[in-house]
Amino acid sequence: MRRAAVAAVGALALLSPAACGGADSGADQEVEVFTWWADGGEKAGLDGLVAAFDEQCDYSFVNGAVAGGAGSNAKQVLASRLQQGDAPDTFQAHAGAELSDYIAAGQIEDLSALYEEWGLTEALPPGLIDNLSVDGKVYSVPVNIHRSNVLWTNTSVLVDAGVTAEPTTLAELFTALDTLRTAGVSAPLAIGKDWTQLMLLEAVLISDLGPESFTGLWTGATDWNSPEVTQGLENYKRLLSYTNTDRDTYDWTDAGKLLMDGKAGFFLMGDWAPSDFETKGFTDFDHLAFPGNGDTFQWLADSFVLPQGADSPEGTKCWLKAVGSAEGQQAFNIKKGSIPARTDVTEADYPAYQQSAIQDWKTGTQVPSCAHGAACSQGAMEAANSAIGKFSSDQDLAGLQQAMSAAAALGKN
Ligand code: GAL
Repeated sequence: MRRAAVAAVGALALLSPAACGGADSGADQEVEVFTWWADGGEKAGLDGLVAAFDEQCDYSFVNGAVAGGAGSNAKQVLASRLQQGDAPDTFQAHAGAELSDYIAAGQIEDLSALYEEWGLTEALPPGLIDNLSVDGKVYSVPVNIHRSNVLWTNTSVLVDAGVTAEPTTLAELFTALDTLRTAGVSAPLAIGKDWTQLMLLEAVLISDLGPESFTGLWTGATDWNSPEVTQGLENYKRLLSYTNTDRDTYDWTDAGKLLMDGKAGFFLMGDWAPSDFETKGFTDFDHLAFPGNGDTFQWLADSFVLPQGADSPEGTKCWLKAVGSAEGQQAFNIKKGSIPARTDVTEADYPAYQQSAIQDWKTGTQVPSCAHGAACSQGAMEAANSAIGKFSSDQDLAGLQQAMSAAAALGKN
């Protein structure tokens, strides 16, 4: 129905061009923005971005969000819509290999000219632009950088159990988890389904292999069948034994609730978690880099695209301009917990966590995330998630190692 309404309005707009220019511009025109930011801290971030869009653009925002962490449901809906020629006006996509999938499929438009027009070539870090480009053409506008290898803690749970020192190595983490278990904490380490488990596996592998070899797992430079990887998988298996056994039915927010409810002491999640905690009234938490990761900053970036065949390309361009603007990035990131993709920001305008993350991003060793599309293609990610889901129930370590090796071979950064 919306499509029919938009078509009718488009015909009118041709007769009476609106102030912003372009055949599809005007306050009565809609821009459908497709994300998986449907609730809690994620919705709060999106709302911030929409406020900037409303300020800067003469179009109406239509919320096309499909709930489910990391796009677990949204990506399937999107794939079928794209296949049916029913693209939303814009959709969320991760910088890196995930974006390359859409580019290779010819589903999104080249934005290089707009980058020049809007000054984004200067405002964004060259390394990030590389992750949004193929053959020198740039295809999306990033809104942020998130860090994925963060361990969130319930302060009171740790204190009450007698965990006094922050674990900085995997061995110290195991000791802390044992202490929590002995104290009767039901899920010392909270976790959710497939992709959240993939995040944990990635963090353990960063600890066991180091950042460079870890990155090589996704480029083909590091052998998945080495004894070092086997050691990492053994540590991962051991870590899973401290988690909630009903993990495979939990989205990340359900696992986060275990931490909020004092049923868990630790929770590995990206730095979108604190915003969610805060919107739900939980403030008794702290954080540390995943033990053994040192200064490694495992990153991912959310970006927005102009799909081929979008109904409202001019409206989409206005959305993208707002996404790339300093105001849009500030409104979004303060709420979302991430740091701006732009480098020309005033750090003091951001909360304490983001100020420290801005520093860590600059000084740390950057590695991409597979679970969030930076390091591996959608095919590789799906295969990895399915291997990890299978392992969660069968605990077959050799099977996991073989399946991860096969998954990584499906798509490289
Ligand atoms: C990531 C996304 C983040 C956050 C997270 C949990 O893939 O990049 O912005 O939304 O999923 O849903």
